[in-house]
Amino acid sequence: MSTQNITVIGLQWGDEGKGKIVDLLARNCRYVVRYCGGANAGHTVIVAGERYPLHLIPSGILHKGVHNIVANGVAFDPVIALQEIETLRERGVTINAENLSISSSANVVMPYHKLADRLSEQSLGAGKIGTTALGIGPCYSDKALRSLAIRVADLLAPETLKEKIGRIVEIKSKIFKSVFGYDEPIDAEGIWREYCDYGKRLEEMITDTGAILRSAWQKGERICFEGGQGSMLDIDHGTFPYVTSSSVTACGVPAGAGVPPKAVGRVIGVIKAYTSRVGAGPFPTEQDNQIGQYLREHGKEYGTTTGRPRRCGWFDAVAVKYAADLSCVDELALTLLDVLGGLETIKICTEYRFDDDKAVQHLSIPMRMSLAKCVYEELPGWDEQIEDVRSFSDLPANARAYVQRIEELIGKPVGLISIGPQREQVIKHNTGLDDIVI
Ligand code: IMP
Repeated sequence: MSTQNITVIGLQWGDEGKGKIVDLLARNCRYVVRYCGGANAGHTVIVAGERYPLHLIPSGILHKGVHNIVANGVAFDPVIALQEIETLRERGVTINAENLSISSSANVVMPYHKLADRLSEQSLGAGKIGTTALGIGPCYSDKALRSLAIRVADLLAPETLKEKIGRIVEIKSKIFKSVFGYDEPIDAEGIWREYCDYGKRLEEMITDTGAILRSAWQKGERICFEGGQGSMLDIDHGTFPYVTSSSVTACGVPAGAGVPPKAVGRVIGVIKAYTSRVGAGPFPTEQDNQIGQYLREHGKEYGTTTGRPRRCGWFDAVAVKYAADLSCVDELALTLLDVLGGLETIKICTEYRFDDDKAVQHLSIPMRMSLAKCVYEELPGWDEQIEDVRSFSDLPANARAYVQRIEELIGKPVGLISIGPQREQVIKHNTGLDDIVI
């Protein structure tokens, strides 16, 4: 078995189907690590017809012998983590300190973060970001501010926690009142008791996850880093300000997991055969029409975390090439190819044009998107069902041509092709991961 680590990231706006790809690769890894985001992520894994929606717990949890890590870069919400752990246990999944560790340095999402997220979005009105309202942005803001942050280690130190929560709640109450006119009392004592209890329940799993991973890497134990969201939602490199608040590309792995940059390993960029986006922000290839509706219904494009209908559109090769180059992707995993079946023609955006080229010269590709006019290439579609196909050569000629065109435009091989939600609905194509067993 190869010992090269794997990093799986999304190259679009999230919901690319990373959970399924990680689940497929996890059985050959010793560790599966979440290094960014928080419960805003929604990864669905389907095993033997059973659906497991995961938010905070890494997708390797369904494999025996895999140690799952929620690393320091995650905005850790103990309420959601415990709910998820309980639900998985009720369904027969074993979870203990042997297969789940939580970083003592991760920052904790507190109830006032969720309140701040809602109040901030309400105050922005039509200009809102369309967040998941899970307190992700406010938690990372407090991390950056430092003086108002609570880390997972604090949940195990009741006296320090009490002092911190008391002080923070006093400050937050003043901010909420003056900025948002919100003056409901926030129960610092109640929050303290509740979060001390979460600390006790999670104690056996709380540890220095960076040390575990660095030692694993030195020993040659294979690690899979599981990205959340998608590159276009990256705090630095995405469609700012319509982004999430963490570093979700492969560039975020070292800082978010506490490992050296060389530990990133082989980077797998997951792409949907079309594009979807939840929340506000630019989306050049969006089809706010019957095509978008077709993709939404056929692709069941409703959020795993919020249930919101996703905005849908054509594949954007300009955006994906930018994201693939940013993370130096080694190969692509193409998902939901089956959803395109039944369309007479399929479009791919190959270029952005602008009314005024000079006005965008200094902008990055995501920053140009709101002014971009897409140039499309049109390819013929296919009518055949492809859900049961297991080899590339058995795909309809037009589906093969579509995949090959994506490879040409992005300049990377398509390693895996997913043609349905089940674990076995995958075609091994031009992958360099020769130990994948489907
Ligand atoms: P936040 O991460 O809740 O602050 O939301 C910021 C933006 O990122 C919103 O547009 C969300 O819809 C989007 N977002 C956050 N997490 C995900 C995800 O896992 N998939 C897709 N979109 C996401």
